[in-house]
Amino acid sequence: MIKVLVVRNYEEVSLEAALRIAETVKSKPDAVLGFATGSTPIGCYRELVRMHRMEGLSFSRISTFNLDEYVGLAPDHSQSYHYYMFQNLFNHIDVKRGNIHIPNGMAKDLEEECVRYEDAIKQADGIDLQLLGIGRNGHIGFNEPGSPFDSRTRVVKLSEQTRMDNARFFKSLDEVPMYAITMGIATIMEAKRIILLASGEAKAEAIAKAIKEPKTVMVPASVLQDHSDCLFIIDKKAALLL
Ligand code: GLP
Repeated sequence: MIKVLVVRNYEEVSLEAALRIAETVKSKPDAVLGFATGSTPIGCYRELVRMHRMEGLSFSRISTFNLDEYVGLAPDHSQSYHYYMFQNLFNHIDVKRGNIHIPNGMAKDLEEECVRYEDAIKQADGIDLQLLGIGRNGHIGFNEPGSPFDSRTRVVKLSEQTRMDNARFFKSLDEVPMYAITMGIATIMEAKRIILLASGEAKAEAIAKAIKEPKTVMVPASVLQDHSDCLFIIDKKAALLL
């Protein structure tokens, strides 16, 4: 069953998420953390940076795995998820570069890259805590509606809605990549603990469907109903239809 924590606003979503990540790192300094991108986790990352600077929270022994990356964007492209993670978090904390894992969307052999990524997660003994956002259509990572529940890290085609939603970060819709590498639904479900964040009315429908309706591949986040330790931290607006 999905546990739900409804808080007042985006700032509280960010703080509650950061507190739980900090607790995980304190109780297990070599924790394996799964990170997400998008606009939602930015406040949480900002809070983690603050905790590192002001409270001495150390990330020196953690390993990280990101959910996804666009195909064809170089790590220094301003819209790549590599760039995002370094800008918003990794450049400002003491995580070791060698412990950071993000799918390589520029790999010559993308299939091989997906297999390598799955192996790296296994080698690390799996993900202790996976952070997730949610797309308006219920996607998690880049697992669009229709993604099989047994899917693993793979190359996926982005839906038009997702491309349009993300076009605001690019100069034009044409520049939004058509493909991405994403952890699969099964990969995400193997994380020992999952925290999904959502803020704002635009996410209310996806949140309600994920929690209240029978699980279906058409709402990828609904698979989380089967996870044994999954918490949604959402604000009032995202909780509007619950
Ligand atoms: C992208 C990411 C997802 C993220 C989603 C929502 O598609 N691949 O991981 O959850 O966007 O983004 P936002 O938080 O900006 O609404």
